[in-house]
Amino acid sequence: MKDEKPEVLDVIGTAEDCDCKEGMFPDPGRRALLLGGAALAGTGLFAGRAGAEATQGASQHAVLDDPTSQPGPASGGGYGLRSQFETVSRWEFPLPQPGVSGSFTPLAGTHGTITPSGLHYEVHRGGVPTIDPARHKLLIHGKVKRAKVFTMADLYRFPSVTRTAFLECAGNGGMEYARPSMPHVQGTHGLTSNSEWTGVALSTLLREVGLEDGANWLLGEGSDAGMHTRSIPIDKAMDDAILAYAQNGEAIRPEQGYPLRLLLPGFEGNMSIKWLRRLDVTDKPSFTRPEVTTYADTLADGTTRYFTWEMEAKSVITFPSGTMKLPIPGTYEVTGLAWSGRGKITGVEVSADGGKTWARANLVAPVLSMAHTRFTFGWRWDGKPAILQSRATDETGYVQPTITALVDVRGVNSKDHNNGIQSWAIDAEGNVTNVHA
Ligand code: CO
Repeated sequence: MKDEKPEVLDVIGTAEDCDCKEGMFPDPGRRALLLGGAALAGTGLFAGRAGAEATQGASQHAVLDDPTSQPGPASGGGYGLRSQFETVSRWEFPLPQPGVSGSFTPLAGTHGTITPSGLHYEVHRGGVPTIDPARHKLLIHGKVKRAKVFTMADLYRFPSVTRTAFLECAGNGGMEYARPSMPHVQGTHGLTSNSEWTGVALSTLLREVGLEDGANWLLGEGSDAGMHTRSIPIDKAMDDAILAYAQNGEAIRPEQGYPLRLLLPGFEGNMSIKWLRRLDVTDKPSFTRPEVTTYADTLADGTTRYFTWEMEAKSVITFPSGTMKLPIPGTYEVTGLAWSGRGKITGVEVSADGGKTWARANLVAPVLSMAHTRFTFGWRWDGKPAILQSRATDETGYVQPTITALVDVRGVNSKDHNNGIQSWAIDAEGNVTNVHA
């Protein structure tokens, strides 16, 4: 990696950088309308769509006029694939720096709260390493009584824990900070995903090696070519950190850190170091290159905030959202996701008039701490222009701010940690666009 600051937002670029070709966007609008219910079927919106793009790797089967007229294919064994008609996919942004990759979760095309593992967002700076779990080792050393090397087989023998948690890139929404940029919610908010994770509590392993006096920090290191490193406070390590080897019921995907990643619930995504191979217990933070460059936040007066870890309460409406079109005035179920790195979401409010008035949305159970929470809101669109917004509150009492309020406090030198309220404008024809309001 070069010494220059690999600024996240430059890496991801802006909509103008995107040589957007017809069909490149996954068309979340049409997808979400399809999800919106049978009432919209028959409007002709989907004509010619189904089957036009095959699901990658899925077998193509003939569609019978009457599916009861003859048996379909036998069960295939192996690893199952989704329907040949399903095309929801991640969106990989064109990247100006070699070795840096990002792909965005299609938030408008998923249901409930769990992100399918194959749709989880990715950001990595040295490609995805291919690691044989039989050869992978984790070293824990430094200010410990018994430095140890753990194989994956060793780790599987420790008591396991399972929890649901979101991950979010610190740069999620950075392109929206100064002005509306991305056309759809996959671009504005797609660097967050939510999974069920299984592994060993990090506190269990730290007790196994025994902490010495002055063990205040950990230096975590990945096995990727980007050599990602971060300093982790011992309180978080002993509280709810997990060494995760499984995601949504199966081994973690390679791009999520196979065979072992750190999981720090509620903290910015890059702290949950993937392909974890080393934890050095230290008395002081290590001030690694990523944490003093890419993931430090420069304020308006030129001073810098280091160690901004917690992702503050945030929400976004995924239906309706940018690039969609409401076909007719009438009643719709507005829906979206809310999350907080500081605990549970306690409320989401929705506004249809750009924030002048608010009404409480329904939170769909279960509402879990530091996890995506689904909200819904019944809304009657009268056919007039409207601006839809959502505003989350978490259990600490923190209320999601407007983007203007964030810029007033922080300036525009750093675009990380944008948890501002998202606005979707709906015009008289029902077209939904990304605006600042
Ligand atoms: Co930060």
